[in-house]
Formats: sequence, structure tokens, C-alpha cells
Amino acid sequence: MTNEAIPNLTAFDEASLDKAFAQLEQQARDSAAAIDGSEAVEAFRLEWLGRKQGRLNDVSGKWLKAAPAEAKKLLGQKFNALKATVEGLLEQASGAGPSDAALAAEAIDITLPGTKRLTGAEHPITKTLNEIVGVFAALGYLVGVGPEVETDFYNFESMNFPPGHPARDTQDTLVVANQERRPLRDRLLLRTHTSPVQMRTMEKQPPPVRIVIPGKVHRNDAADATHSPIFHQVEGLCVDANITFSDLKGTLDHAMKALFGSSAKTRFFPSFFPFTEPSADVQISCIFCGGKGCRKCKQSGWIELLGCGMVDPAVFAFAAEKQPAYDPKKISGFAFGMGVERIAMMKYGVSEIGQFYAGDMRFLSQFV
Ligand code: DAH
Repeated sequence: MTNEAIPNLTAFDEASLDKAFAQLEQQARDSAAAIDGSEAVEAFRLEWLGRKQGRLNDVSGKWLKAAPAEAKKLLGQKFNALKATVEGLLEQASGAGPSDAALAAEAIDITLPGTKRLTGAEHPITKTLNEIVGVFAALGYLVGVGPEVETDFYNFESMNFPPGHPARDTQDTLVVANQERRPLRDRLLLRTHTSPVQMRTMEKQPPPVRIVIPGKVHRNDAADATHSPIFHQVEGLCVDANITFSDLKGTLDHAMKALFGSSAKTRFFPSFFPFTEPSADVQISCIFCGGKGCRKCKQSGWIELLGCGMVDPAVFAFAAEKQPAYDPKKISGFAFGMGVERIAMMKYGVSEIGQFYAGDMRFLSQFV
């Protein structure tokens, strides 16, 4: 900048002040007009408005201090007007943006490829689990959950597996260590199925109950192509007056059609579970061959998918200890339980259960 230092002022009449301020204003306008780029904007600001060496600071130091008392008011007004002008010039200059050179230095090459961000997606097991729950939610079922570390009572005894009963051997159980001093019913284990949440739900509320229970379960099974020591189930429980086996058949037939398409057929085979009587295994027509017979269905045309049955009166008797309304003379109900991995494997044609847990993005990204 070429502005010289602020001169001393000797005359303080209005005409002299007008002239002196007009000169300064002209200098400010000239240097503002010459501003080029953001560095020059900052230099202009420092030169005029800088707290210590700024020209306006000098004006107030030299002129205001030297002015006789009667001239101070007018001088103050003119000073403020000049200051406002300079601030306006500064604002204009900064709004003008960086110079072409500065722009060129900051420019980005929009032809370069961008950085791709991976968005998360539902795991195929979670997706299948939510889909199953959604089918029943649409029928008015609520969702219940329970603990994964469960007591012997809820996992077995209340589900009508008495202590020592051979049915317990069908679910190879992982138990929590050092529980021997507790009574058997209080000993902790990793739940082997979601069925104990049937009892936990009934103890908390009288009938009617319509509930689905999604969750993780654990068994001391060796891992192979179709088994994993940790897997997922969706349990269902419906209790009300006059619930019949045909309600169970209609509900599950609808659910299988909703999950596998309207051409899926179901059939019910006699089976055994301690907590249902009668019990059944549900088979669906093979979704791979349409029922004609293929390797997947071992030429039978049918694939076994889940267990179900009418709630055993012995189970209601345990519930009635806390909620007397579970009186098997007055109410009845059905229950079912399905493996989520098994259904996901069928829906997506996955032949190794371990793929769901391996964390391999090449596998998982197919389900996005
Ligand atoms: N809890 C059984 C299991 O894990 C599955 C099951 C079968 C659940 C029949 C039920 C049912 O509610 O009625 O093997």
C-alpha cells in the first residue's frame, strides 16, 4: 500500500475536517479498488482497521486527541462515518471471493474417481428373521423376547421335560459351570430353544396370547454343513378360547406361502415334543423341484421345516401357578418353532450354514 502516515491536523473547523476526511476516504476507496485476492483483503483490513497500527487507530490517536472540546463531537461523527465506509469496502472486497490464482490452486479434478463409501445392510439371518416375524405381525402377533442364559426350570422343566427325562437328551445342552450347589431348577444354561419364552410370557399375562419370539439359541452340537452350535429360532404361541388344530394348520400354511410363495404346499406329520400334544412336523413341498423329487428333497418332493403342536395341558399347569386363567378346561392353544438358518438356506439356496457366520464380504454383499 502506498498510503502515507496520517498527518497532524491543525485546523478543526467544519470545512477543514470535511477536507481531511474526504482525502482519507478517497485513499481508502483507491486501495480497496486495487485489492486482488484474499491476502490483499487481509492486508487492507490490517492497514485500515488494525487495532494497533491501523490508519483509523492513528486518526483517533492524532486527531481526536488533539481536537479542542467544541470540535470533538463533529470529529467523532465524521470518524464513525469513515469507519463505516471502510468496513463496507472490506465487506465488498471479501465477498468478491478469491483471485483466479487462488481458485486455480484449490481446484479439484472432478474427472477423478470418488471415494466409495460402503453402506451397511441387514445380515441375511436378520433379514430372514425379520421377514418371518413380519408375516406373523401382520396376523396380529406381538413380539416377545427372553434371556439367552436361562434356568433349567424355564428351558426344560416348565416345558414338560422333567428332570432325568430322556427328551432332554435330544437337546445337547451347554451349562454354566459351578452350579451344582443350586437346586436343579435354578441352574443356569444357555437356552437350547426359544420355547422357554412361552412360559415367561404366560406367567406375565393372562390369555389371550398371540406372540412370536425370535432369538438366538445354543447347543453343544458339532458344526457341519447344516449344524452350528449357535443358531436362531422363531417361536410362536397362540392361546385363546377354542383354538384348534385347524387354526394351527391354517396359520402355518399361510405363513409358509407368505415366506416361500403361494405355490408352496404344506403337510403335517405326527411327531413328538414334550410341550405339545399332539405334536407335528411340518413339511413343505420342495421349493427346488416343485414337488417332483430332486436331490435336495431326497426325491421325496417334501422338505421338513418346523415343529408344532397343541400346547400340552402340563405346560398350562405350570403357567397357571402364576396366572390361574391358563385353565386347560377353558382355553387351548398351539405353538410352533422354526430354525431361521434353515429357512434362510432354503430361501437363498445356501448349502453351508457356516457361510452365514464367516464374515466374508463376497458372500454377505449378495444379500444387500
Ligand atoms: N423347541 C423345539 C426345538 O427347538 C421347536 C419347537 C417344536 C417349538 C414344536 C415349538 C413346538 O413351540 O410346538 O426343537
